[in-house]
Amino acid sequence: MTKGIQVAIDGPASAGKSTVAKLVAKRFNYVYCDTGAMYRVVTLAALRKGLSMDDTDQIVRLAQQIKISFQPGDPEQRVFLDGDEVTQDIRQGQIDNNVSAVAAIPAVRTEMTRQQREIAQNGGIVMDGRDIGTTVLPNAPVKIFMVATAYERARRRYVENKAKGIATASLEELQKEIELRDKKDSTRAVSPLTQAPDATRLDTTNLTIDQVVDEISKIIKKTQEQLQ
Ligand code: CDP
Ligand code: CDP
Repeated sequence: MTKGIQVAIDGPASAGKSTVAKLVAKRFNYVYCDTGAMYRVVTLAALRKGLSMDDTDQIVRLAQQIKISFQPGDPEQRVFLDGDEVTQDIRQGQIDNNVSAVAAIPAVRTEMTRQQREIAQNGGIVMDGRDIGTTVLPNAPVKIFMVATAYERARRRYVENKAKGIATASLEELQKEIELRDKKDSTRAVSPLTQAPDATRLDTTNLTIDQVVDEISKIIKKTQEQLQ
C-alpha cells in the first residue's frame, strides 16, 4: 500500500475547498482537516465570553486553552468546542464578520499552526485553509490553490445558506462580505492568503465539484507514483 501524503488546499472563501477536500479525503481514505473551522471556533469562544476583537491577549489565551475537535459527519464534518457541538454555530454571519480579525492575531496563528502540524504529521491528510501550502505544511508534495470569481463564490454561499435554512444576506451583500474578507486575508501581516510558488492553480468558476475532485485526484495519484 502506498503511504498517505500531505495534500494542502488553499484559496479564498467559498472557492469550494472544504467540499472538494472532504471528497478527495474520502476517495483516498485520508483524514480531512478544515483549518478555517478552527479559527471559527476560536472566534465563537471569544464572542461567547463577550470579548472584544481588540482583546488580543485574552483571545490568545483562550485559543491556547480551548479544545477543538472534529468528528466525521454527513454531509458536514462535525466540530466541537470543549466537547460541545458547534458545527452550526460557527457558520453564523457574526462569525463570518469577526473571524478574519481573530485569524490576524499572530499568536493565535502560532497556536493553530502547531495543532495543525500535529494533526498532519503522519501524512494521509487533506488540509484546507489559507496558509497550508505556504506556512503550515510548506513541504506538502501536493499543493492546490483554488480560486473562483467573487460573484460565483457569493452565489454558491447564497444557494448553500438557502439550502441549509440559514438566514442569509442578499447576494450583493454576500459578495461584498466575501470581497472584504479576501482583502483582509490577503493583506494581513502574518501568513497572508497567497499562492505558494509550487502550488497548482485551479479556477473552479466553471467546474462542477466532481470535475475538481477528479482533477486533484489525478495530481495526487501522479505524485504518489513519482514518490514511490
Ligand atoms: O468557509 P470559508 O471559506 O468562508 O472560510 P473558512 O475556510 O471557514 O475560514 C474562515 C476564516 O478563517 C478565513 O476568512 C480566514 O480569515 C481564516 N483562516 C485563516 O486565516 N487561515 C486558515 N488556514 C484558514 C482560515
Ligand atoms: O471551503 P470553501 O469556503 O472554499 O468552499 P465550500 O464551502 O466548499 O463551497 C461553497 C459552496 O460552493 C458549497 O455549497 C459547494 O457545494 C459549492 N460548490 C460548487 O457549487 N461548485 C464547486 N465547484 C465547488 C463548490
